[in-house]
Amino acid sequence: MQHIKQYVEQNKQRLLDELFDLLRLASVSADPKYKPEVLKTADYVAAKLRDAGADNVEICQTAGYPIVYGEKIIDASKPTVLVYGHYDVQPPDPLELWKTPPFEPTVRDGKIYARGACDDKGQFYMHVKAFELMMQTGTLPCNIKFMIEGEEEVGSSNLGIFVKANKEKLKADVVLISDTSMISMEHPSLETGLRGLSYLEVEVTGPNRDLHSGVYGGAVANPITILAQMIASLHDENNHITIPGFYNDVVPLSEAERKALNSAPYDEAGYKQDLDVAELWGEKGYSTFERTGTRPTLELNGIWGGYIGEGAKTVLPSKANAKISMRLVPNQTSDAITKLFTDHFLSIAPPYVKVKVTPHHGGEPAVTPTDSVAYRAAQKAIAESFGKEPIPTRGGGSIPIVALFEAELGLKTVLMGFGLDSDALHSPNEKYDIYNYYKGIETIPLFHKYFAELSN
Ligand code: BES
Ligand code: MN
Ligand code: MN
Repeated sequence: MQHIKQYVEQNKQRLLDELFDLLRLASVSADPKYKPEVLKTADYVAAKLRDAGADNVEICQTAGYPIVYGEKIIDASKPTVLVYGHYDVQPPDPLELWKTPPFEPTVRDGKIYARGACDDKGQFYMHVKAFELMMQTGTLPCNIKFMIEGEEEVGSSNLGIFVKANKEKLKADVVLISDTSMISMEHPSLETGLRGLSYLEVEVTGPNRDLHSGVYGGAVANPITILAQMIASLHDENNHITIPGFYNDVVPLSEAERKALNSAPYDEAGYKQDLDVAELWGEKGYSTFERTGTRPTLELNGIWGGYIGEGAKTVLPSKANAKISMRLVPNQTSDAITKLFTDHFLSIAPPYVKVKVTPHHGGEPAVTPTDSVAYRAAQKAIAESFGKEPIPTRGGGSIPIVALFEAELGLKTVLMGFGLDSDALHSPNEKYDIYNYYKGIETIPLFHKYFAELSN
């Protein structure tokens, strides 16, 4: 541990400067206008992996953005850790809500504010620097492979193809990912599951053109009203989802699992205060941790239609649209849920409108084992570096590739995230605490050390 602390201390400023350079690159995968910046980011990551001591560093082309690969094989008889992360980020919009520009990282109160600060640049870069540390101090105890992709925030569809085509190259004993959250720095935790996702878009069409709302209003159904009614009917009075069959494949948690989950520290007052809401909302009969970690949900991500510009325009619009996502839990599958939604949504369409459902991406839920050598290594690493045993939690977010690693490579994942839910991922003013960044760089080498030791 001493050599780790010392290395971080001696390189403190540079470790931060390099992350800042990475955060300055606007690698937004969703919007083609950022393409040159996304490609530059891949180059930057490859160069930094090389500098840190990785061999066979490659920028692997795909039909979309490239995957950066690098490895250090010290001894074929030693275990191999495959580190996964993503260098792409979410769009920064709405820009006007940022206190400082999203691609000019700024420190306030010990926290780095920038798009991608936590998700996932700040987090995957800790692995690059922890690797550098192990190389520089001659303490790399196992083989390591890096696979850093550029399309996580848009569904990782090309990574899926890459993984299927490169099974030999990606051969490893475990996948290690830092792209999730902890409860808090005082209550370090390890996520042991991720939800799946089914994302789609709906369009409701009424009359064949926008109409004068005075001339026609009252005689023709307004598609915005109809869409709102259809959407409102998707939850019942207990906030259960009303799609027939939606819960059929949900595996209920055992009483012991529920108890363990609910024994994690939870500050409801602080949670509400942070979000400035008077009351929480959710499926009746479940706690907040259960609602976000173990129950499926249906959320509206966006809704539009009619006139939304300055001032007023009296119009009865022809169309109304919404983007809808459903978070899934074992053993739901995104294809089956997408179909259930589509059938149901079409079936509740009244005769005044036409309804179209367009699926976007999906991903399967995953649970990670808590009795594996790798999980124990992560527990020991965190216990040593935080002075406290980590609490197992279930994450609400999705990293679809985790289920694919298991299906295609037979690999289990350890989710050793150092973010916080309050880091404003995907929101304006995303942040990452400098303390967490260094803490991650200090904890990761301990994971490798214990993983190598316990694998013997
Ligand atoms: N890192 C997040 C997922 C996450 C965040 C998991 C916090 C657990 C805790 C990831 O980058 C992400 O945002 N994933 C998307 C899914 C993707 C298919 C767009 C998500 O969860 O919405
Ligand atoms: Mn992420
Ligand atoms: Mn994300």
